Amino acid sequence: KGQITLTMIKPFAVKQHNVGQILSDIEKAGFHIRALKMTQLPAEKAEIFYAEHRERSFFPQLIEFMSSGPVVVAMLQKDNAVADFRQLIGSTDPSEAAEGTIRRKYAKDKTRNAIHGSDSDDSAVRESRFFFSSMEEFVY
Ligand code: CMP
Repeated sequence: KGQITLTMIKPFAVKQHNVGQILSDIEKAGFHIRALKMTQLPAEKAEIFYAEHRERSFFPQLIEFMSSGPVVVAMLQKDNAVADFRQLIGSTDPSEAAEGTIRRKYAKDKTRNAIHGSDSDDSAVRESRFFFSSMEEFVY
């Protein structure tokens, strides 16, 4: 049981062949994978996913990067999933991310920051519906 959160391993980390290591870190931290896929976001889809950042200066760069290659998306379940996952991944800026966090280990900079984590329960639900249908979600 527990809460859900949505994660995306971003294009740079996929290209660096860090998918297996990152999923391993996630499972070792006690997260249960409810749904998982590799896909690529066309820019128009990335703009919808990141709509809340539309007015930010980094938005064009974010959209270009996020649509530049495949991403690995997963719906995760755990008690306190949203907050615990944000702790596991660390700060947006990898130079500020704590030792042992996923961003500290696998991120390059604020854009190529390896991984996404939902910022609230509402975002987790919205982002999960964005990527997964009910037939792609498993309780096991
Ligand atoms: P994420 O938390 O997955 O979703 C929003 C993204 O915006 C964030 O990851 C960063 O990759 C990106 N982002 C946030 N702040 C900056 C910034 N100052 N410069 C570049 N990218 C940023």
